[in-house]
Amino acid sequence: MNSSPVSPLVQDLDPEKMPAHVAIIMDGNGRWARQRLLNRVQGHEKGAETVRTIVRASREIGISHLTLYAFSTENWQRPKIEVQALMKLLEHFLESEQDELVENDIRLNTIGETERLTTGTREALARVIHLTENNKSMTLHLALSYGSRSEIVRMVQLLAQKVRSGEVDPRDITEDLVTQHLYTGKIPDPDLLIRTSGEMRISNFLLWQIAYTEIFVTPTLWPDFSREEFLGILKEYQQRDRRFGKIDV
Ligand code: FPP
Repeated sequence: MNSSPVSPLVQDLDPEKMPAHVAIIMDGNGRWARQRLLNRVQGHEKGAETVRTIVRASREIGISHLTLYAFSTENWQRPKIEVQALMKLLEHFLESEQDELVENDIRLNTIGETERLTTGTREALARVIHLTENNKSMTLHLALSYGSRSEIVRMVQLLAQKVRSGEVDPRDITEDLVTQHLYTGKIPDPDLLIRTSGEMRISNFLLWQIAYTEIFVTPTLWPDFSREEFLGILKEYQQRDRRFGKIDV
């Protein structure tokens, strides 16, 4: 829909105009599997391979923050067997990727209600977060049990507690203070949001943070999303005129 038909090379991209933060809604694993008469979990397994490809490409290109929507608060309502398979897949991914994350100076972070995840998944996450905590070149943020509305409710609760204790005066509540109390408090807002599989919706992802984000929707299903298409989207992003509500002078 929006992706460039010609795939550029990394050197065709302008290093000065690289997005600092790319966020991705990875959609279409189930459809990819169905088209091949496979089960949904096999679609997620192939999707995990795409995660590896896009993490590598992002690091190579020099993106500072990559946020991947890996499991939403709504995804808990999927069949138990699929939820369990996704948790196991995440654990395997963390196990198989931890050395590469360390070697490539990539820090792992999570956003979302991670306390709801299984003990095994939480332990695997804690291990890799600890192993990579001093890495500086890129941060991979996995949105897990994440929902933007519940993130906003949590922010309101945190601020309300601070008002009640006298730490914050309601007149001092600014956009910056709100931002600081979200999971993404210390991360710049996404410059670019990509959604695969063609759906034209945001699905409760980073609602506050994407106020001025450039959005790209591609019909490609996540397991088929490639490094080449990613580079094409970055090239097109660099050609967009970002005005942040102002006019060109
Ligand atoms: C959406 O596809 C995808 C998900 C709900 C899960 C995303 C998970 C992965 C990409 C793999 C594991 C992740 C990591 C970080 C290793 P869908 O199931 O909604 O697809 P559909 O809309 O075609 O049914």
